[in-house]
Amino acid sequence: MSALRTLLTTRGYAQPDSMSARLWRRAQDVLPGGNSRTTVFMAPHPIYAAEGEGCWLTDVDGDRRLDLLNNYTALIHGHAHPTVTEAATRRLARGASFPLPTPEEIELAALLCERVESVERVRFTNSGSEAVMMAIKAARGFTGRHRIAKFEGAYHGSYDYAEVSLGASPAEWGRLAEPTSIPYSKGTPPSVLQDVVVLPFNYPDLAAARIEREAPTLAAVLVDPMPNRVGLIPARDDFLRKMREVTAAHGILLIFDEVISFRLGYRGAQGAFGVRPDLTSFGKIIGGGFPVGAVGGRAEVMAVFDPRGGKPLVPHGGTFNANPVTMAAGLAAMRLMDKGAFARMDEMGEKLRGGLQACLERAGVPGSVTGMGSLFRLHPSARTLVDYRSAVPEEAEKERLDRLHRELIDHGVLLAPTGLGCLSTAVGDAEIECFLEVFSNCLPSLARET
Ligand SMILES: Cc1ncc(COP(=O)(O)O)c(C=O)c1O
Repeated sequence: MSALRTLLTTRGYAQPDSMSARLWRRAQDVLPGGNSRTTVFMAPHPIYAAEGEGCWLTDVDGDRRLDLLNNYTALIHGHAHPTVTEAATRRLARGASFPLPTPEEIELAALLCERVESVERVRFTNSGSEAVMMAIKAARGFTGRHRIAKFEGAYHGSYDYAEVSLGASPAEWGRLAEPTSIPYSKGTPPSVLQDVVVLPFNYPDLAAARIEREAPTLAAVLVDPMPNRVGLIPARDDFLRKMREVTAAHGILLIFDEVISFRLGYRGAQGAFGVRPDLTSFGKIIGGGFPVGAVGGRAEVMAVFDPRGGKPLVPHGGTFNANPVTMAAGLAAMRLMDKGAFARMDEMGEKLRGGLQACLERAGVPGSVTGMGSLFRLHPSARTLVDYRSAVPEEAEKERLDRLHRELIDHGVLLAPTGLGCLSTAVGDAEIECFLEVFSNCLPSLARET
């Protein structure tokens, strides 16, 4: 119960001379906008983290918050799980990285191959962005085609091709049947936009028709089965099945981006949805809290990386690929996630999403909750959400969600500003009750118009 008492006010950071304010002032002299990761900026300044334990995160001003963000879904056991910490420190004490492979990478690759039916071979990277990049390059190398298709609004990391039409707005997105390819970063080469075909998520017939029209130049269709930026709306069964059929019919590879969705079950989202892609990108939870990514898939396709016999069709370097500390931490974290652990997370996730929805209904506040398994996302409207276009919040909705986010931060709960949250195995019934209570108290901020 001591945890509950910390959920009163957590506004130390907001004092003009707080440690966070001072750090931020200093950071601005050496980092652009004081920042190394766009996602973690928050106005007027970010809150700096000091330490974490289980599902609790303490900031540099000493305020403790219930962490339901878990480094944007990367931490499946919360912070500093003793087994994971022990595995990483034991490995670190014997050297941090080497110009030779280490046994740990074989073990983590074997775990992924054993759990995920579509994965026969694995290569490790240092981030999910790199994993997606290597999956795209593998598809190009294997098919000899150069273009890819991806879904409007979906995030697949910081990489030109993967960023196309991320954050597309109504003024520019064009017809649903043929969404316009929109650059995300200024300076994106026009050739990138020509090489990325954008598809509407969860519209099987429209997406399949466009894939068929573009098929001769398409190496891959890249899809996240439950894309967060599209609203954390699960893919419809018939949609994923159709994507599998149409890609197979045209010799196009189907890539699942499971950087987040691997959280959805022992065999990932593809196990839960029953669809088998050719390639999968992984990241986040498989690194036990350390920087990680992996691409896995059919042996025949993954052979493009095979260095036996000279230069591979798709060379893949990386000083820190399969770093042994990451591998050891990832193995420890993933071994703890047996089928029972996933089942418990599903149960807690159901309870949490149901509880949030009930709070909204009781308070008569327009809002909804999406997600599956250990993932949830709060939306500031009661619209039916089916795709990116329906999930993009209007300006006034965004303001209401911002207010709710701030209220939660100021009352001891950490979620993403977009309403994304997730559980870790460290969250129990008491923490869920506690979150629901704080959420209910903060709900008026979601109802108020400015
Ligand atoms: C679905 C998806 N793919 C790829 C990435 C990129 O992963 P990373 O941040 O490790 O580069 C992310 C990151 O949030 C993601 O959510």
